[in-house]
Amino acid sequence: MKHLIDPVDFSKEETDQVIELAQDIILNREKYWDRLAHRKLATLFYEPSTRTRLSFTSAMMELGGNVLGFSDAKNTSVSKGETVQDTVRVVGCFADVIAMRHHIEGAQLYASEVSKVPIINAGDGSHSHPTQTLTDLLTIKRELGHIDGITIGFCGDLRFGRTVHSLIKALSRYQDIKVVLIAPDELRLPDYIKNDVCDKMGINYKEVRTMEEVLPELDVLYMTRVQKERFLDEDEFDRVKDSFVLDARRMSLAKEKMAVLHPLPRVNEILTEVDDDPRAAYFRQVENGKFVRMALITKLIEWKDDPGHPMLKQEDSIEDDTIHCSNPKCICNNEKAPNRFRRSDDGSLRCWYCDTKVK
Ligand code: CP
Repeated sequence: MKHLIDPVDFSKEETDQVIELAQDIILNREKYWDRLAHRKLATLFYEPSTRTRLSFTSAMMELGGNVLGFSDAKNTSVSKGETVQDTVRVVGCFADVIAMRHHIEGAQLYASEVSKVPIINAGDGSHSHPTQTLTDLLTIKRELGHIDGITIGFCGDLRFGRTVHSLIKALSRYQDIKVVLIAPDELRLPDYIKNDVCDKMGINYKEVRTMEEVLPELDVLYMTRVQKERFLDEDEFDRVKDSFVLDARRMSLAKEKMAVLHPLPRVNEILTEVDDDPRAAYFRQVENGKFVRMALITKLIEWKDDPGHPMLKQEDSIEDDTIHCSNPKCICNNEKAPNRFRRSDDGSLRCWYCDTKVK
């Protein structure tokens, strides 16, 4: 059985299989209408969502399956103190696969340790969002025809933007990727992505302060929203909230074939005047999200009992009760997850669940 918790939980070949299946679904919709008849998907959303939850629902319906779940944990036994592990143990009795979004980082990884059905991470705090990554990879493939060899600029909130962290991780397995990081100092990419992903995997990256200086070289511009809900300090949010805005003037500096992606929702970082530009791919990206989730659910159910698709071996974990993760939003500080760590390539110790550096 496989879960999808981290964007590189699937091998590169398995990721490509999901993307290829999504492309076949797009071309042959009717062929898949009954593919998952009588199967059930549970959507457990502890945090708000429009696209992810509804695209999972629409995906399962289009495959002929059924959907159960909640979009507000306050109306469930979570409000009585039921843990995330107990919740998935219970829901695993009712559903074949579970898609979960949680504001607590590492919640899905912790849940997967006891789940008897595949768990899909539909976003955990500012940590990871692997199904958005599959959506982004499919979108890049459809917009440009290839993923290898692209130069991609990530712009805006690279600190809290879980979609950015996940996509960079996934791109590290493609050939000749160049990454440009466009962010104010307060919103720079976390060091663990730079060290453990970019440096380790040989991703060529640079950090710049303005969009204008790099727009002409980009094949993809990945815009992000500054995520107010992740800031602990409102003054800090006010200082950076209007850092980067994409408008028609800036688009005139870009390549004729550049694709503009955004995981959405947007606030003010892409003006609506850009929406009619053929390079604005963000609403096509939303639709790709449904197709790729159809492919993902199909594959996870197909692989569930297939020994040819085991979970990839994770690095060895280290348990040490004398060390504590400092991230207040980590599962180990919210439920009784063990004090578990992994040794990073730079020699530091990082939380097993949320990747925060502890030593
Ligand atoms: N892209 C994305 O995750 O959107 P939602 O928060 O609406 O699900």
